[in-house]
Amino acid sequence: MSLLTVSNLTKRYRRGGKVVTAVDDVSFHIEPGETLALAGPSGSGKSTIAGLVLRLIEPDAGRIEFEGDDFLALRGAKLRARRARLQMVFQDPLAAFNPRATVARVLDDPLRIHGIASRAERPRRIAALLERVGLAADLAPRAIHEISGGQRQRVAIARAIATGPSLIVLDEAVSALDVSVRGQILDLLLDLQSQERIAYLFISHDLGVVRALARRVILLDAGRIAESGDARAVIDAPQSAIGRALVAAAPRLKRTTQDAS
Ligand SMILES: Nc1ncnc2c1ncn2[C@@H]1O[C@H](COP(=O)(O)OP(=O)(O)OP(=O)(O)O)[C@@H](O)[C@H]1O
Ligand SMILES: [Mg+2]
Repeated sequence: MSLLTVSNLTKRYRRGGKVVTAVDDVSFHIEPGETLALAGPSGSGKSTIAGLVLRLIEPDAGRIEFEGDDFLALRGAKLRARRARLQMVFQDPLAAFNPRATVARVLDDPLRIHGIASRAERPRRIAALLERVGLAADLAPRAIHEISGGQRQRVAIARAIATGPSLIVLDEAVSALDVSVRGQILDLLLDLQSQERIAYLFISHDLGVVRALARRVILLDAGRIAESGDARAVIDAPQSAIGRALVAAAPRLKRTTQDAS
């Protein structure tokens, strides 16, 4: 059984009498512990798919099965329990968290809300989470706005893993980071995945990152799947027009291809 199965997902936005089909009959699945990447040009529907999978956005049509449940039909306690297993990391943790909140507070929330640890246990759990993502425990009392972008993204990852998820949706989670920090965060994600068998739905416009991290990739074009398959095969020899355009626009990839030929 797949961890996540998305079937015929469609989302339309109505804007001033005009209808935009942001996601158009999209189907895919994610297996336990694997990384599926979503790539495509700006406006192709990547973040809308992330929002639909996380149930932050209601679809017009389609079905989402998560851990064997009809996820869109879940309510109440069952929904809360499933939400703990499906976490997210976005591009900008300053926008996702209250910037004045402390690191400890950001990590305390999921532990408390999901009843994972008692009040007495939580400081120890927070220290362990910080250690798990490569941060010093003395970062706990610092405010989110006082720490670096890379540290903030590690806190966002710590928060995501706090509830023991089986799937994390990462929407441009490393895009705002400079190259060396980006590499460290990608290494952390790979390490967490191999240790804890977490699956990722990894959204990125950077095909180099997609190629390094994902086993399979879906290329989106105007809300539809233009091409999908093994990430290396697709990126090294794209078959769709949008795939060729994306590869041509990726300077680092072009250099690699030239080196190889
Ligand atoms: N809340 C909204 N209201 C109206 N239209 C929207 C809304 N959110 C997204 N859209 C439209 O839906 C389409 C898909 O947007 P989406 O944000 O999913 O794209 P994306 O692939 O994540 O783009 P980017 O790479 O720029 O983040 C776009 O045409 C966008 O303008
Ligand atoms: Mg987006």
